[in-house]
Amino acid sequence: MRLAISTGGGDAPGLNAVIRAATLSAISRGWTVLGIKRGYAGLLGEDEVIPLTADSVRGIAHLGGTILRTTNRGNPFSFPRQQPDGSWKDFDRSDELIANARNLGIEAMIAIGGDGSLEIAQRLVDKGMRIVGVPKTIDNDVSGTVVTFGFDTAVQTAIEAIDKLHTTAESHDRVMVLEVMGRDAGFIALHAGLSGSADVVLIPEIPWKVENVSKAIMDRDKLGRKFAIVVVAEGATDESGAASIIGESMAGQNRRVGGIAQQLASTLQSMTGKECRSMVLGHLQRGGMPTGYDRFLATRFGGAAAQAVADGRWGHMVALQPPDIVMVPIVEVLSQLKRVDPRHDVVQTARAVGISFGD
Ligand code: F6P
Repeated sequence: MRLAISTGGGDAPGLNAVIRAATLSAISRGWTVLGIKRGYAGLLGEDEVIPLTADSVRGIAHLGGTILRTTNRGNPFSFPRQQPDGSWKDFDRSDELIANARNLGIEAMIAIGGDGSLEIAQRLVDKGMRIVGVPKTIDNDVSGTVVTFGFDTAVQTAIEAIDKLHTTAESHDRVMVLEVMGRDAGFIALHAGLSGSADVVLIPEIPWKVENVSKAIMDRDKLGRKFAIVVVAEGATDESGAASIIGESMAGQNRRVGGIAQQLASTLQSMTGKECRSMVLGHLQRGGMPTGYDRFLATRFGGAAAQAVADGRWGHMVALQPPDIVMVPIVEVLSQLKRVDPRHDVVQTARAVGISFGD
């Protein structure tokens, strides 16, 4: 068996642990392993395809990032290419990719990625490629699995930020608004906000009004709690329903989300008369060493993915449904984004301990 491994989309702490576990599990079965660099770019002549050996994956499980590199601009079905006039045009290069994979003798692939990369994997499966998926995202928004690796590390980073903001906010009687990642899902904000004892948590799944946020802050103020911590998910829309957008996306990229914290802090300052400051945690949440939990889960996913290749589970994704790792059809996963259920016990507990969701 000649197996290829790719990592696509935004990186997440734990990717290297998956690569290591999948590679070693394949080698122990007597297979040859190749690493496709930068998503699928390595199969389109835009980057390399490298051998993955026991040596090349030695000592990487604890490292953030991905030794295979990644991209969020490499969809082979709409691959951006700059035109002579400077504009960008998308091309379907999937047939070229399949032909190149065949020429390299690749018989099966493990595609590690989020919803975007899994969708690409499914489309390639539909065209005859033999692919098994491994879900990856710090946002934890992939259905079919209770959790994705990278989420725990991102939440840990956000909690550390909240802890640090607490002491400075209290010293200055300030309201600190912390924006965390998550795109259309509020898991990072919710888990970090609850664990970090935030006062307000705003997530895309629970519509909120700035008046309610202001009231929660002033209610605390009346009790002598002169500071407050507001955690806002980058995709949490305001009452007008408009998501905030920062910066220009590049060709082939998803829209960029963010900037809500700054708008919110400025509105809250006018409404409360208190000093309100904002902070965007941003890509710090994606960087650094994966937590022990993420390394453990990523290693289990890598081992299970190699087993799935051995079993010929093409078009399936490994998933955690405790206590087991199971196989879920990728088409099922793609049919629905996983989001916070407002009736979930985590939300109920957060409310019970006094967190306002601004609703
Ligand atoms: O999906 C993971 C994620 O980190 C989101 O939380 C965030 O909106 C997005 O990726 C940022 O992507 P990029 O680094 O490509 O701007």
